[in-house]
Amino acid sequence: MQQKKFYITTPIYYVNDVPHIGHAYTTIAADVAARYQRLEGADVFFLTGTDEHGQKVQQAADEFGVSPQEHVDKLHQRFKELWVRLNISNNDFIRTTEERHKKLVRDILRQLHSKDEIYRDSYEGWYCTPCERFWTEKDLAEGNCPECQRKVDKIKEHNYFFRMKKYQRWLVEKIKNDPHFILPASRKNEVLGFLEKPLEDLCISRPKSRLAWGIPLPFDEDYVTYVWFDALINYISIHGSLDDIKTSKFWPADHNMVGKDILTTHAVYWSTMLKAIGLEPPKNIFAHGWWTVNGQKMSKSLQNVVEPNQLIDQFGVDVIRYFLLREVPFGLDGDFSHKALIGRLNSDLANNLGNLLNRTVNMMKKYCGGIIPVPATVAAEDNSLTEKSAEVIAEVRKLYNELAYNKILQKIWELVDATNQYIDKTGPWNLAKTDAGNERLKTVMYNSAESLRVLGILLNPFMPQSTESLMKQLGVATAIEEQGMNSIDKWGGLKSGSQTQKANPLFPRIEDKQAEKILAEISAPKKDAAHQITIDEFMKMELRTGKIMAAEKVKKSKKLIQLKIDIGTETRQVLAGISASYEPADLVGRTVIIVANLKPAKLMGIESQGMVLAAGDGDTIMLAGFDQEPGQGIRVR
Ligand code: MSP
Repeated sequence: MQQKKFYITTPIYYVNDVPHIGHAYTTIAADVAARYQRLEGADVFFLTGTDEHGQKVQQAADEFGVSPQEHVDKLHQRFKELWVRLNISNNDFIRTTEERHKKLVRDILRQLHSKDEIYRDSYEGWYCTPCERFWTEKDLAEGNCPECQRKVDKIKEHNYFFRMKKYQRWLVEKIKNDPHFILPASRKNEVLGFLEKPLEDLCISRPKSRLAWGIPLPFDEDYVTYVWFDALINYISIHGSLDDIKTSKFWPADHNMVGKDILTTHAVYWSTMLKAIGLEPPKNIFAHGWWTVNGQKMSKSLQNVVEPNQLIDQFGVDVIRYFLLREVPFGLDGDFSHKALIGRLNSDLANNLGNLLNRTVNMMKKYCGGIIPVPATVAAEDNSLTEKSAEVIAEVRKLYNELAYNKILQKIWELVDATNQYIDKTGPWNLAKTDAGNERLKTVMYNSAESLRVLGILLNPFMPQSTESLMKQLGVATAIEEQGMNSIDKWGGLKSGSQTQKANPLFPRIEDKQAEKILAEISAPKKDAAHQITIDEFMKMELRTGKIMAAEKVKKSKKLIQLKIDIGTETRQVLAGISASYEPADLVGRTVIIVANLKPAKLMGIESQGMVLAAGDGDTIMLAGFDQEPGQGIRVR
């Protein structure tokens, strides 16, 4: 039989964002599906990566005084590092600034342009700079951007357009006729609702004069590619040239997994782009829901962003992976709370699964000398456990088709519960009292351990680390991926005669006192604890007056001015991002405040020995100053 191929992707994450549980959620969900398919023996390709072009990246790089490329080279590491910690088994990591990606984007643009799928036209519309999107008059929300509510600018310019609207009918038919194409069904209906309005052609360029950080259009160097048109191509750019993709075993993808917020861009832009290129759309686009935190949207200003690295330190990686997929039906929105996480850890993981393993390994030691016995007699109860196991395995396999992770876990827990009940009912502690009982005991102990092995395999995609440790305790030396799903097709794969190993509990309980402490720390108003400083801390900062003796623009930087500042005892070279509001010549002779004990840092290869205080950002910056002349080197406090 031909080996099954399986290709799954996550969205590529905006490189500027600090990774949070929302990003972790998509990636863990895709990882579980990839790991499961590997256990089924499929040839799997799992892709994730970072989205590295666009206005926000350019702005952030300017603020740091580095080139956009240097900026993204550094920032994308945060995602890579988090995926290692979360045990994500991606086969590749695509960055949109890599040559392999840029080349395919250019080839596709060239091809679509030559086929007249892309044309030039003048355009007038409302543009939201932070979102990098055009809106029509009727899209606006009280005159502002409907997405971020910020002010929009009326722009008239020439741009390039992809003939998207001509694919509208094809797309509607595709969505209606292929029930698996967009899941869950409720989201599919949202897309169909969106497609009831006439589609516009898609503006796929931005003038370089406004945005330089993007892939230049191969047929007009004055423009760069719109970031979505660039980013979506990541799903195929890892497979080589267009010809390679046409024959690739990994296209079309089995799942392009996305959050609900980016379903339209995938279902509409991406599918029609592929149609125009002459490639199949993905077999499925799955849109999951969003996490709020204690009922609120996660945001920097609310200081409620849940940071996965901290969660891992506090609870362990598998607890996070389990919780995110168990707590909420995949596809619906969910609310994150540490309390709920601790609840699941204590009940599902510590009390049910962890305790089952613990008691089995303990009894194995006590009644069987720590050696997996050869099962002897078989009674009705034993059959009911093996039947339950077969039922759970069959159902889990089915549920993976819909990526119904929380149902899969619920189903697996039926086997956890059935095994605990089996032990309670058969009572090894009583069986051990008689000779006949001792014979039966061997079967009971074997079956309990075999059931745990089945659980280890079924749970491995969700909790890779803990299930390997579970296998070790059962005395199974073969790695789970090698055992595979077909090792549980038939009951009895566990080898009699293996030596079990006692180990620390897989999931230590969080006792009430400890839980209270954790919850109190989390809910303590951050402003009080983390955001106030003492007077001593403030006094550590050496603020001094200084006179600007010379000023010149830093070449190649839009923002930076290089200043020579006399602070009484010496002259400092300081770089300041103020050129939007000041001409170098106007600065000479001014008295400013500088942070004099700041560690020197290099910006654009030039050392800056301090920092000048100013208010504002972007286009309006005001230097802090005095209403009288204080002289140089005076301490400011
Ligand atoms: N760069 C685009 C995707 C381009 S794909 C060709 C992007 N990036 S993102 O970093 O903003 O979001 C990536 C994913 O994280 C999306 O699937 C989004 O839904 C998910 N999440 C971001 N915040 C989330 C929550 N609070 N909850 C769940 N998932 C969320 O969009």
